[in-house]
Amino acid sequence: MKPRERVVVFTGAGVSAESGLRTFRDGDGLWEEHRLEDVATPEAWSRDPELVLRFYDERRTQVRKAVPNAAHLAIAALQDRFEVDVVTQNIDDLHERAGSERVLHLHGEILMARSSVDPGLRYPIMEDRIPRDARCAKGSPWRPDVVWFGEPVPLIPVAADLVARADRLVIVGTSLQVWPAAGLVHEAGPAAMVVLIDPGEVSLPRPGIRHIKTKASSGMPELALEWIRSID
Ligand code: APR
Repeated sequence: MKPRERVVVFTGAGVSAESGLRTFRDGDGLWEEHRLEDVATPEAWSRDPELVLRFYDERRTQVRKAVPNAAHLAIAALQDRFEVDVVTQNIDDLHERAGSERVLHLHGEILMARSSVDPGLRYPIMEDRIPRDARCAKGSPWRPDVVWFGEPVPLIPVAADLVARADRLVIVGTSLQVWPAAGLVHEAGPAAMVVLIDPGEVSLPRPGIRHIKTKASSGMPELALEWIRSID
């Protein structure tokens, strides 16, 4: 039996849009009525931690109410025939709830907290709210375990290695405007098949990419079916 081909699915906010979670750059430049610099930077955290905590508490409530859509389910279904790794910029858990087994969250996870002094100390958040009196093992308050603008993205080398080893790469619902995540596409080998699913005008990061210009909930199931049939 031939070894299974390796697939990397690289996702952004667009894959969760049809689950009711808003994207960042489609509308007015605001993220749920806030400027990104007011809620998603280390400076915002130093200036007004309560505003930041409240903002992420609201996002957590939304994520817990959302359900995976047809795109998340199709991505999980690829596991029946391929070795699949999901590399997501999303902080929601919709890939996991759809059944994807290997999910790397480049920008962190909304359902986790971390120490505000040591990123290695992480804690699950059981309620919608981060408990304000919770302290890490070093005595500092918890903060959301998400990567803010201006912070390093420690999982980039792991993701880059996955993309470099992929036979097929599918990019879904990302404007490819935020680095270093956007640079991952350049890690794909010259022989890799690269497909991008996005209804918008994404400027293609390299030649030879097939752009399926539809929403994730239709484009992703169609592509999954096509790929599964192609190897059956
Ligand atoms: N299906 C597929 N794609 C969609 C859909 C849909 N139904 N609706 C919108 N899109 C596309 C848009 O056309 C756009 O290209 O999703 C993309 C969303 O882009 P962004 O809002 O920029 O989101 P993303 O690329 O994930 O942002 C990257 O920026 O703010 C930070 O950390 C945050 O992880 C995030 C990062």
